[in-house]
Amino acid sequence: MDKSSELENLKKRMQKDKSLPLREGATNLVFGEGDPDAKVMFIGEGPGFWEDKKGRPFVGNAGALLNHLLQSIKLPREKVFITNIVHYRPPENRDPEATEISAFQPYLDQMIKLIKPKLIVTLGRFSMAKFIPGVTISRVHGKKISLVWDGREIVVIPMYHPAAGLRRPEIKEELEKDFRKIPEVLKDLEEKDKEKQVEQMKLV
Ligand code: URA
Repeated sequence: MDKSSELENLKKRMQKDKSLPLREGATNLVFGEGDPDAKVMFIGEGPGFWEDKKGRPFVGNAGALLNHLLQSIKLPREKVFITNIVHYRPPENRDPEATEISAFQPYLDQMIKLIKPKLIVTLGRFSMAKFIPGVTISRVHGKKISLVWDGREIVVIPMYHPAAGLRRPEIKEELEKDFRKIPEVLKDLEEKDKEKQVEQMKLV
């Protein structure tokens, strides 16, 4: 089965899962969207008002800033995959609770395993804590962190949440600076991949 179909099946399983928290108060599941073969995946916090209405991630004001940031580095939104740490809207946009994050975790993990991104950009402290627990965002944002996740080498760059950038111009500037690092990191990762392929060809 191809990746798109596997992702579609995963989405259907989530929609049917009555044990998922926040389901009762929500209009739509916000699974995530983008290129199933994306090299870079963005993980936000949780759906807000418009995301809940439309069933799509980052389509409100924070989404407009995310689109602007993507355009600023000429990375088309359709070429990346965008999702969240929880997939139903928390009431009044409150922070997701630890038990809620845990309930969605197996689905998010499966999503990452299917897409196999080389780079994960976390937006906000909740998705950051999934990969880099015990740090503060003001200290680590924009840093390239290499780690092994599910037996695979990945790079994680924690960034501020775009909604924080909308509230504070200095955070928006940091986000712009941090986004500018993405193309270079992707180029490096591609080169490493090519080197690995050459090494493998030598071994055959
Ligand atoms: N904020 C998020 O964290 N995710 C969205 O999808 C929208 C706003």
